[in-house]
Amino acid sequence: MLIGKKVPHVTFRTRVRDESVGGPNPYRWQDVTSDDYFKGKRVILFSLPGAFTPTCSTYQLPDFEKMYNEFKAEGIDEIYCISVNDAFVMNAWGKQQNLENVKLIPDGSGEFTRKMGMLVRKDNLGFGMRSWRYAAIINNGSIEQWFEEEGFSDNCESDPYGVSSPQNILAKLQEKQAA
Ligand code: BEZ
Repeated sequence: MLIGKKVPHVTFRTRVRDESVGGPNPYRWQDVTSDDYFKGKRVILFSLPGAFTPTCSTYQLPDFEKMYNEFKAEGIDEIYCISVNDAFVMNAWGKQQNLENVKLIPDGSGEFTRKMGMLVRKDNLGFGMRSWRYAAIINNGSIEQWFEEEGFSDNCESDPYGVSSPQNILAKLQEKQAA
């Protein structure tokens, strides 16, 4: 059980727009650490098998985006979506999804996911190493609540989705608030 544990310290290689770069593709590398994302904030982190995949693109990411204000009302400062994909892929996915609220974290090398113990093989899909689907409430870098889909395994034939849905997490936050 990961509750109470600190998230791993990792440096993520992101790509940010910077007009001073000039040219048709004005982006530069920017390193962002776990501290930058998690220190002093209460956030939701959700992790999924891949950018542009159907369940993630049709339900999980757009639903977190739409429900952002409901999570804010429950004391959540940020919602982060992480995937074992590089910054170019994650930026393209964010653009395609018209994201304004959810922030994407590129874990291209899988280091964060591996250190969380959530890295699985998806060679059966030609994906290589990816993240098992999970979500967590993370308070100042410590895991407060944990939502892991059942059946953690390599080359899983199915893609369980329910526990880490925004609907389930919001219900759990509201129950906690009411208790
Ligand atoms: C999906 O999100 O539907 C999905 C994720 C991983 C592999 C295939 C599909």
